[in-house]
Amino acid sequence: MNKTTLSIIKADIGSLGGHIKPSTPLFKKVEEFIEKEGKGIVSDYFVSHTGDDMAILFSHKHGIGSEEVHKLAWDAFLAGTEVAKSQGLYGAGQDLLKDSFSGNIRGMGPAVAEMEFVERPNEPFLFFAADKTDPGAYNLPLYLMFADPMYNSGLILSPNMAKGFKFVIMDVNHTEGDRIIELNAPEELYDIAALLRDNERFVVESVWSRETGEIAAVVSTTRLHNIAGKYTGKDDPVMLVRVQGPFPATGEALAPFNIGHYVAGFMRGSHTGPLMPVKMNSSVSYFDGPPVVCALGFCVHNGKLTEPADAFDHPYWDYIRAKVSRKATEIREQGFSGAAMLPYSELEYGGIVQKMQKLGPKFYIREKAE
Ligand code: 13P
Ligand code: 13P
Ligand code: MG
Ligand code: MG
Repeated sequence: MNKTTLSIIKADIGSLGGHIKPSTPLFKKVEEFIEKEGKGIVSDYFVSHTGDDMAILFSHKHGIGSEEVHKLAWDAFLAGTEVAKSQGLYGAGQDLLKDSFSGNIRGMGPAVAEMEFVERPNEPFLFFAADKTDPGAYNLPLYLMFADPMYNSGLILSPNMAKGFKFVIMDVNHTEGDRIIELNAPEELYDIAALLRDNERFVVESVWSRETGEIAAVVSTTRLHNIAGKYTGKDDPVMLVRVQGPFPATGEALAPFNIGHYVAGFMRGSHTGPLMPVKMNSSVSYFDGPPVVCALGFCVHNGKLTEPADAFDHPYWDYIRAKVSRKATEIREQGFSGAAMLPYSELEYGGIVQKMQKLGPKFYIREKAE
């Protein structure tokens, strides 16, 4: 069968004024590199940025984990890093955590989400990219778009989704190999919810149609601190979701993003903030955030990508952005206290760990009064 592979490979390789957005020369370099070096390797590509993360969407014929395609992306990011260094951008090469390419870009810093399928006569899909958050940010939206008829009316109205979907969930704390569980919605909804409540540990890796057995969604599951052993930046995840037919309608896949749910990330990757749906090529700002996500709708046909439709560029989402700004302001009012900052186990910066070590010996046990 003639299959098409979609691969998103994204990395933060340097940014203007802190962690805001890549520079124009950096962006252009990555694009030019792919245009020139991608010939004969990929069928098509699209480059965009979300906050300070550059994402390359490829369409190609080499399947998942292709060394050629991964190396193309790695080399494009290296070329971009050279520009970032020459301009003195902040965090030049931030997400390129290994010195040399070793066959597969997974585990080297960049985030990867890939799926392979036989194209339908029309093949619409959504590209998502987020900044200032981690892969668990997609847990709730995926649960709602694939398992909850309150968000996905097709679960009631369409005969093509009647059997529901299979969730493949990864325990991202397990670093010696991939620890995976497969659970079916709707029968195992409560088990799925029990895992997905813990966004930092259990992350949806993929979702599959139980009607057709086809891949429906994939998420990048990289946890940078598991690779680097220390904070080097947030994971800033990407996701692909096929839409229409046996999958959610585009609007059903977008619907859960109107919650602006609270996710991990924001300033120094150490806080809780609401996820704001933004337009293509948006920056971040307030308190290095709030966490943002963009959604681009494409069709792919014989490997060729259409232009993107910028799905959150619509007046409805201005209203949501105002709501999310309010939520961001409200949680920031309590600064470092309680739920506003992530728990100790997730604090990405070494500083607080060192502080606790210093303070430890200063604690003493009060003598009991006689
Ligand atoms: P990035 O992961 O987007 O580089 O952000 C890092 C950070 O610490 C922002 O405050
Ligand atoms: P420093 O490396 O200057 O501490 O910056 C960290 C950072 O950018 C967090 O946003
Ligand atoms: Mg950065
Ligand atoms: Mg980023």
